Amino acid sequence: MGRIWIRGGRLLDPASGCDEVGDLLVEDGRIVAVGAGLEAGDGDVIDAKGRWVAPGFVDLHVHLREPGEEYKEDIASGGRAGVAGGFTALVCMANTHPINDDPSVTEYILDRARQESPARVYPVAAATRGLAGEVMTEMVALFEAGVVAFSDDGKTIMDSNVMRRVLEYSGLVRVPIITHAEDRTLVCDGVVNEGAVSTRLGLPGNPAVAEVVHVARDLLLAELSGAHLHVAHVSTAGAVALIRAARERGVHVTAEVTPHHLTLLDEAALGYDTNTKMAPPLRGSSDVEACRAGIADGTIDAIATDHAPHAVHEKDVEFTAAPPGVIGLETAVPVTLDLVRQEQLSPLEWVRRLSTNPTRIIGRPGGSLAVGAAADLVLIDPDRHWIYDPAKGYSKSRNSPWAGREMIGRATVTIVGGRLVYDVDRGVLVP
Ligand code: DOR
Repeated sequence: MGRIWIRGGRLLDPASGCDEVGDLLVEDGRIVAVGAGLEAGDGDVIDAKGRWVAPGFVDLHVHLREPGEEYKEDIASGGRAGVAGGFTALVCMANTHPINDDPSVTEYILDRARQESPARVYPVAAATRGLAGEVMTEMVALFEAGVVAFSDDGKTIMDSNVMRRVLEYSGLVRVPIITHAEDRTLVCDGVVNEGAVSTRLGLPGNPAVAEVVHVARDLLLAELSGAHLHVAHVSTAGAVALIRAARERGVHVTAEVTPHHLTLLDEAALGYDTNTKMAPPLRGSSDVEACRAGIADGTIDAIATDHAPHAVHEKDVEFTAAPPGVIGLETAVPVTLDLVRQEQLSPLEWVRRLSTNPTRIIGRPGGSLAVGAAADLVLIDPDRHWIYDPAKGYSKSRNSPWAGREMIGRATVTIVGGRLVYDVDRGVLVP
């Protein structure tokens, strides 16, 4: 595998608090030396002047669509999109076909990932069979097959007793339950945020309270069980406040927010562009501000994309008929650097939300530049200007709300396990 010298970059290591210009040496898949003015020797040299050097980003929320919907994405294309976006590991959701509610599906995903994906892949299993919200999956067997969490993401577990039980059982294997918190009885057939925008569009609204009610219930059940609850795609001020209060009283809760919920308003849907339709929907400015404050003060631990590929023929229909979801792996870096530019996050805290915290949530190694750590690394050019064209990206799908937009900031090099897998000028290099 050899050696890689990364020279003269701004080393950002949230695990140690290091934010200094220096060099880093990778050998046989591990970080073997970090410091200023390391003596150069044999091996490849990467000039990191003007770049940030960070532990690889870990996306807690990705829909890879394999098995079953490979026309939207597969493990290979999703893995390539991931490393092109600076992610060295992807946590993939269970709403595939067949659903990942059986160890054979988990094993299939892991096997395909080993062969096809330049990024590490960590599967999430369904919490209930068929994502039906009724009967628990065989959680211990799924854990033994290698899943890092359980979630019915895309669907909500409406039955409170089922939610209580899955939390209790997940506690036995010490992995989180990731909740998709939308009370279906309040969402009804809502497709955009309930408010002025839904009224103007003449579309059914999905109210913020649908999320808040559900987060409140799940926090109470997490408190009762002592289990680890992870709240997916937080989008409302009410949910941020509830999570903050629960954390203060000792509930084991973590949370994520997406780049789109941090930067886009419900008004983005006024043109009926179905690439602004997702679940939960884009919200109003007070909710967006609360999410930004929540990620800034650490109430929300992680930024996760909810990368949800859908084909053009599925999205190019009436707003009500289109499936919810947007792709996000290749745009997360520039989109969320907006918070750094607005001084809501320091570069070090931004890396913590994309790397150190997500690895801690799933209990996997990573998120650090310590000597001895696996060499999962990303180099960021925070000032690089580029135009995002999904057709030129690595995802098979194009359903992005940022298509054609000017982006500032980009992952320029990605290294997984000591292997250079992506270079912005040469593209994805393996497998
Ligand atoms: O917008 C979404 N799309 N939200 C989800 O929870 C599911 C996802 C998908 O699978 O397309």
